[in-house]
Amino acid sequence: MCGIVGAVAERNITPILLEGLKRLEYRGYDSAGVAVFTNAGKLERMRRPGKVSELEQALAGEPLVGRLGIAHTRWATHGAPCERNAHPHFSGDLAVVHNGIIENHEVLREQLKGLGYVFTSDTDTEVIAHLLNHKLKDLGDLTVALKATVKELHGAYGLAVVSASQPDRVVAARSGSPLVIGLGLGENFLASDQLALRQVTDRFMYLEEGDIADIRRESVAIWDVNGQSVEREAVQYRDGAEAADKGEYRHFMLKEIHEQPAVVQRTLEGRLSQNQVLVNAFGPQAAELFARVRNVQIVACGTSYHAGMVARYWLEELAGIPCQVEVASEFRYRKVVVQPDTLFVTISQSGETADTLAALRNAKELGFLASLAICNVSISSLVRESDLTLLTQAGREIGVASTKAFTTQLVGLLLLTLSLGQVRGTLAEGVEATLVEELRRLPTRLGEALAMDSTVEKVAELFADKNHTLFLGRGAQYPVAMEGSLKLKEISYIHAEAYPAGELKHGPLALVDDDMPVVTVAPNNELLEKLKSNLQEVRARGGQLVVFADEKAGMTNGEGTHVINMPHINDTLSPILYTIPLQLLSYYVAVLKGTDVDQPRNLAKSVTVE
Ligand code: F6R
Repeated sequence: MCGIVGAVAERNITPILLEGLKRLEYRGYDSAGVAVFTNAGKLERMRRPGKVSELEQALAGEPLVGRLGIAHTRWATHGAPCERNAHPHFSGDLAVVHNGIIENHEVLREQLKGLGYVFTSDTDTEVIAHLLNHKLKDLGDLTVALKATVKELHGAYGLAVVSASQPDRVVAARSGSPLVIGLGLGENFLASDQLALRQVTDRFMYLEEGDIADIRRESVAIWDVNGQSVEREAVQYRDGAEAADKGEYRHFMLKEIHEQPAVVQRTLEGRLSQNQVLVNAFGPQAAELFARVRNVQIVACGTSYHAGMVARYWLEELAGIPCQVEVASEFRYRKVVVQPDTLFVTISQSGETADTLAALRNAKELGFLASLAICNVSISSLVRESDLTLLTQAGREIGVASTKAFTTQLVGLLLLTLSLGQVRGTLAEGVEATLVEELRRLPTRLGEALAMDSTVEKVAELFADKNHTLFLGRGAQYPVAMEGSLKLKEISYIHAEAYPAGELKHGPLALVDDDMPVVTVAPNNELLEKLKSNLQEVRARGGQLVVFADEKAGMTNGEGTHVINMPHINDTLSPILYTIPLQLLSYYVAVLKGTDVDQPRNLAKSVTVE
């Protein structure tokens, strides 16, 4: 959500701030702004609604040149996405950018109004600017004033501040929203994600919860949540520089869909022996812990939640372990009963999703056996705070709609299922060896599914003028249908619902007519015949069917029925394979509709607010 960049240097920092914003734009893109302490000795800002390119254009016309500054790209929470709500927010001669939500902003706003402060925006952030300004008058030092200010804030924040009265520093505070300091030579930087600063440095210092930082050209000072001066380790960025470029593809989403064979391969690397999963892929203490697991509780959001729903079928069917799956925003506020010896599993691409992180933190108080994160970002809060981790190796995902993160999560969850079953001795004879072999073949199968690209593109035409769609699946294909419907609504803005196919006649069938296409995934398994009956129910009501069916399922094209044959695959792995055509379908429908595929309206990558 939102992106922050800050810099203090000897050179003009505006191009650095702008480049950082462009790199963060996939996280929020309602509006963007910079505040620069210019060489004329004044704190000046430029803000624009819309994308960073609008801001860049404005700055080309009226350049801001200076050696100290902060910048922000916004995903609106309080106040519409317009110029006056865009960050940075000013109070007197200081400027603030903020990620997160201040929950007590209304009370503070009233108090500050009473003190004579005039508000020019509808944001919660402006409250921070005025409160800090007020404290600064008494306390004199910007860092000291920031420490006093955050004591009065309830909620989540990553903050960066500059002031014309102390133009030698950027000050920052982290609580519930990540911040990283980029270390340079005679210059230092700040960002909400190190990605924003890869152009200027590869050395980073990660702020921890409750930290306050004073960042100057030649020094960085940090205080922890108790106000104690602390050192945070400086680390060299290890994950390799991943260029944010689309290569031969029109959109990041399409590139990321096509990367799936390679990233699945990478996620498997070093984690399989000849015919077994290497349990220590989850950490050296995993085998001992897994032997004690009697239940699994999975918690995640959005696409990652759908991965968890697939895993429940695997964990119960293959490893015989009872499993519960819940969306994090519900789990975190519910009084849960924890069964003895329950492993708490979180799934997240970013590892910074506020609800998932909060659920993990709550879980630590609830008596779970241990926590395990399946995550794509090695330096994320979720990874740092979990007992065990399995890193998916999807690489950076830029498209806001998650694709390769999902399939690599599924691979990670199948490895978890097999590891738990192996250690606990609950797998049926031969299952692990068969699935290990199938996993090795999976990248090739995914490549075959991707080769259907142009067939799916053709089918997409059926949807371009529709307003509603149903997705149906049975068994582990039900969450695949849910994921397919989420993808379609996210990027094409077509209303889509997913149902277990057997539920159709209990209500949703009433919606079916020739304006409501029905998409179904039909692998060749024991539920196929039942699914075929459900499809008849749709056809009898004039519904158009699009069926992704196993080549051996014996399904053929007919009037109103469009069958797309899928390569045959082991049933356990079919949710991973059948996800691919649904991703492609959403993509091509969105392209036909002309939407912003990589940055769909109202959404943001990495939801770091509640
Ligand atoms: C959908 C999507 C979101 C995320 C959700 C959780 O395409 O991307 O639904 O899956 O916001 O994000 P992570 O996995 O980063 O916790």
